[in-house]
Amino acid sequence: MNFSDSEVVASILKKEGYELTDNSKEANLVLLNTCSIRDKAEQTVRNKLKNFNSLKKQNNKLKVGLLGCMAERLKEKLIEEEQVVDLVVGPDSYKDLPNLLNEVEHNQKAVNVILSKSETYGDISPVRIHNNGINAFVSITRGCDNMCTFCVVPFTRGRERSRSPESIIREIYELSEKGYREVTLLGQNVDSYLWYGGGPKKDFIKASNEQKKNSKRFSNLLDLIASNFPQIRIRFSTSNPQDMTIDVLETMAKYNNICNYIHLPIQSGSDRILKKMNRLHTRQEYLELIKKTREIIPNCGISHDIMTGFPSETEKDHQDTLTLMEEVKYDFGYMFAYSERPGTYAARNFRDDIKKEIKQRRLEEIINLQQKHSKERNQRFLNLTCPVLIDKSSKKSDGFWSGRTSENNVVVFPKENYSPGDIVQVTIEDFTSATLIGKAKKKSLAI
Ligand code: 5AD
Ligand code: SF4
Repeated sequence: MNFSDSEVVASILKKEGYELTDNSKEANLVLLNTCSIRDKAEQTVRNKLKNFNSLKKQNNKLKVGLLGCMAERLKEKLIEEEQVVDLVVGPDSYKDLPNLLNEVEHNQKAVNVILSKSETYGDISPVRIHNNGINAFVSITRGCDNMCTFCVVPFTRGRERSRSPESIIREIYELSEKGYREVTLLGQNVDSYLWYGGGPKKDFIKASNEQKKNSKRFSNLLDLIASNFPQIRIRFSTSNPQDMTIDVLETMAKYNNICNYIHLPIQSGSDRILKKMNRLHTRQEYLELIKKTREIIPNCGISHDIMTGFPSETEKDHQDTLTLMEEVKYDFGYMFAYSERPGTYAARNFRDDIKKEIKQRRLEEIINLQQKHSKERNQRFLNLTCPVLIDKSSKKSDGFWSGRTSENNVVVFPKENYSPGDIVQVTIEDFTSATLIGKAKKKSLAI
């Protein structure tokens, strides 16, 4: 999401005459787009800021700004705590950057952290930064209304709102004209997408009958994009179990160009912990959704987010998470130790009582199990031939391309005469837990 937001910011600044540079010594303005999801993300930013003191000594014109969730969470306090920072701008205030930079030019510090109920940046064509010209992110919703008790996002990104289908289609059209082959539709909770003319999702009940009748949900949006761009692969992230609907799965099954992959965070396999996290579904409901997914899209790649050491998590709760993983057998996963975030319901009401070593040990157990499952799941590709979109050179060997299957597995294979952006039929000959290894046969008509 930050990657996508940075592209919006680059577009706003380009109109003001700014140019991008890879060389921080050459820059007169450095903007750090920040994340607050875990404490470690914030500490990384604070460490990075130390480098800018010496850069400022070398270039007295240099200004430093902090954007994103950390800006929103800490506001003016960031200017007091980090002397090197001149500018603090929250995720909904990027259009105000030209004014704020003007203030900064006059040696004032500038802050705008006002959250909006309607801003989606739908009218801005993002400038693609460091992009391979093949895959791009397209933001479709902003904010989140879910209020999971551990999560800082509702505080830093505000109320949930959706972007107009027209502006989404326009952006994808521009990408397709430039030769892009894959888009990932982005939102904190894509299944909750709802366009009824603009404004917060919560106000949908106040919409007119006409607006309600013409409203578009996520499955409608997917249908619209998939049918308009048959040559573009479509992915989306993140899905939320309580908001994911069967019509989304059916739309995925209907179109070849919607990838067979769902990222479906669970966080914990214990009903007691799920309730305490305010995740609005049970373990059983989640497992039923997985079952339905595999009925409708038999080969679907499925990944998770899991968190260990949420307040009061017992060994029994942890075992519930491990058994849930055994039941689902995910293809991939993103795993974290709980990090208390100031201001959240959990921070205000529950003690962060699981020792660091225990969180870490549980995390390792989960990571090890996931690695085992990833390898088992990868086995199903052995000797199969599947379409792979080439997106870059393999990091490990220059003679190999790296690409992805529809199910989101990384595949490497000898380069031969193929090029990035090609979709090729690759026969899988070997695999590890992280990678499929194969040989390309020919360019693919299927995508
Ligand atoms: N501590 C640890 N992990 C967190 N996540 C969100 N908030 C926290 C937190 N306070 C994880 C969740 C979420 C992913 C984006 O980050 O697993 O799905
Ligand atoms: Fe945070 Fe929950 Fe919203 Fe995800 S769904 S962004 S975890 S509040």
